[in-house]
Amino acid sequence: MTDAIKSGLRKGLTSYGDPGFSLFLRRVFIKAMGYSDDALDRPIIGIINTYSDFNPCHGNVPELVEAVKRGVMLAGGMPMAFPTISIHESFAHPTSMFLRNLMALDTEEMIRAQPMDAVVVIGGCDKTIPAQLMGAASANIPAIVVPTGPMLVGHHQGEVLGACTDCRRLWGQFRAGDRTEAEMDEISGRLAPTKGTCMVMGTASTIACMVEALGMSLPGSATIPATHADRIRVAEASGAAAIRLARDGLTPDKIMTKAAFRNALTVLQAIGGSTNGLVHFTAIAGRLGIEIDMDEFDRLGLDVPVLVDLKPSGQHYMEHFHWAGGVPRLLRELGELIDGTQITVSGGTLADSAAAADMVKGQEVIRSRANPIHQGGGLAVLRGNLAPRTAIIKRSAASASLLQHEGRAVVFDSLADMDNRIDSDDLDVQADDVLVLRNAGPRGAPGMPEAGYIPIPRKLARQGVKDMVRISDARMSGTAFGSIVLHITPEAAIGGPLAMVRNGDRIRLDAQARRIDLLVSDEELAARAAQWTAPAEPAGAERGYLRLFLDQVTQADQGCDFAFCIPKAK
Ligand code: FES
Repeated sequence: MTDAIKSGLRKGLTSYGDPGFSLFLRRVFIKAMGYSDDALDRPIIGIINTYSDFNPCHGNVPELVEAVKRGVMLAGGMPMAFPTISIHESFAHPTSMFLRNLMALDTEEMIRAQPMDAVVVIGGCDKTIPAQLMGAASANIPAIVVPTGPMLVGHHQGEVLGACTDCRRLWGQFRAGDRTEAEMDEISGRLAPTKGTCMVMGTASTIACMVEALGMSLPGSATIPATHADRIRVAEASGAAAIRLARDGLTPDKIMTKAAFRNALTVLQAIGGSTNGLVHFTAIAGRLGIEIDMDEFDRLGLDVPVLVDLKPSGQHYMEHFHWAGGVPRLLRELGELIDGTQITVSGGTLADSAAAADMVKGQEVIRSRANPIHQGGGLAVLRGNLAPRTAIIKRSAASASLLQHEGRAVVFDSLADMDNRIDSDDLDVQADDVLVLRNAGPRGAPGMPEAGYIPIPRKLARQGVKDMVRISDARMSGTAFGSIVLHITPEAAIGGPLAMVRNGDRIRLDAQARRIDLLVSDEELAARAAQWTAPAEPAGAERGYLRLFLDQVTQADQGCDFAFCIPKAK
């Protein structure tokens, strides 16, 4: 086959042993859709449609697909939408992270299997864009991301509400007896008032901002509200951009370079973003053979101040960030901390995006480096005898008084154990203890759920305790806050030191020194390790996707990708 017949409809023919017949058959079937020969001879732009009745964060996808199609056609191409898995945070059992790699496999294989010269991926809810970029990186055809965009804020009794930072805060008040069930029913209709992704700087917003800084979406894509007309217009522009990317052969590996990932991680620190951003971008980078150096990321945190004043670290919401200038303005404020020479899907460089920023006067959402929210970045990488391969803490969402703390361990052996005992009046717990949750990591839970935000035991909540040091091998929602150590690696379920902690042991957190330690001798730890047995696998582990997951999932410091999806080092 010549190169000339490897584009558009001619790409990746189905194997019948006769390429000419394969193409003929393809034309026969696709003409059943009513397409003309002229349409079928155009460059084909695939559009990934992740609409699902179970996914309100993607509720605007049908409109976005139509807008992308319009952009593709105006630029002379042929748009073809196709479905993949859609994942919503609260409609994914046991946890959305369990399904992220399945969505990445689906995305990669459907991009590869079907003929397209470029692909527009439309996603938004936490795991979707990471999965799509993992898949697109591996398929490595020109690609551009269109986030669904954030919801507008909610209102209740004169108070502005944001999903889901305020979901947690208000639920905490309900647990403490400060809100009635009737009021919570009313509030449930006000926290997520429009289609779109959570409008605080949670994981979805974090990922969208990082993707814009990575260069894989057009300027403004991260922050335009889901329901605003500009969201439709950026989708249309993304369709047109896909044609250009196809023409120029600008594949993801040319945009997602090591320096581009560094830019994205710089933005992660500057927005006080979700800890999940690190896990997901480690996985995306891993697909291209790029390793995220955790120590370098931590050093980045020392240089990069938190500049964006959004909940949960700050005060405002995504729509305010957008109207203050969004990611381009943030890039401008970050100045030389960003490598502006990196190219983007816009056809220019990141410096071009920053230069075109809307310099809104008097705005208070995006601070200057001379007046940051936090001097150091939001996230810090910890090590110690409890986390030989690192753990993470979101300092900007923690209580300053707990960043250096020593306390007695109160251990929960699993999520079920925590559910059963955390609210018991018999639980032996005090405000200065350290709550420990284990077997909630990538293999242990399985799927590393967002359970690291261990609730304050009810008897302490009633006494007014708002925060405690909590440590686990789980993740945490980007919308959560507290003095919480996450992603302890290796996890307990594979025999990491977290598995050896006993009730009453002393644990010391020193975020300044980047340490998390169990104050038990090496000899005692070794003796406990010799007695340790792995927890039983979950029901159903003998077959299917769960078996694949348990066999292949890597630890948090490798992005929890499947080992067989990470290219071998050359
Ligand atoms: Fe989808 Fe928050 S639940 S972004």
